[in-house]
Amino acid sequence: MLEPLTKVIAYTFTFMITAVAICVALVLYIGSVPGQTSTAQVAIIDGGAAKPEFTDLQQQGEKLFKANCAACHKLFKRAIGPGLLGVTERYEREWLYSWIKNSQALIASGDADAVKIYNEYNQSNMNSFPQLSNEDIDAILAYTDAYK
Ligand code: HEC
Repeated sequence: MLEPLTKVIAYTFTFMITAVAICVALVLYIGSVPGQTSTAQVAIIDGGAAKPEFTDLQQQGEKLFKANCAACHKLFKRAIGPGLLGVTERYEREWLYSWIKNSQALIASGDADAVKIYNEYNQSNMNSFPQLSNEDIDAILAYTDAYK
């Protein structure tokens, strides 16, 4: 009397488990389709693994960035300072030269953008880089634009 019922339950369970397994497999497959950028992939790019072809200027910029800026800046996300990807679209080049060479002086001069970003980051101080030339800074900015 009980046996057929047990069988029905067993079949139903087997069917459900198979269906769930197929769904999981499908989701995993779709997640791995190239072109869908997940946060994990961006992290790989940030680590330098999957980088695009760099020009000489961008390579020089990458070195300068790693030596001087990477302690506080990443490209794709906020760290101690803002993520610098596409920063050239947010500011004039001259402003960037002044800021990078001496952000404190620019803030002290009352420049509205400088004061705003300084306050946004709880008035933490960025180092000054008077030793960097405009050409050095151009190289760094070519690098921070490289992944756009
Ligand atoms: C000691 C940490 C530190 C280092 C090193 C550093 N920065 Fe910064 N940077 C900051 C912080 C913090 C801010 C946010 C503004 C503030 O608090 O002064 C900032 C802001 C900026 C901004 C404005 C970004 C925006 O979105 O408004 C630029 C551009 C920038 N930094 C470029 C650089 C470059 C280029 C270097 C390397 C040559 C560098 N920084 C090195 C900490 C740092």
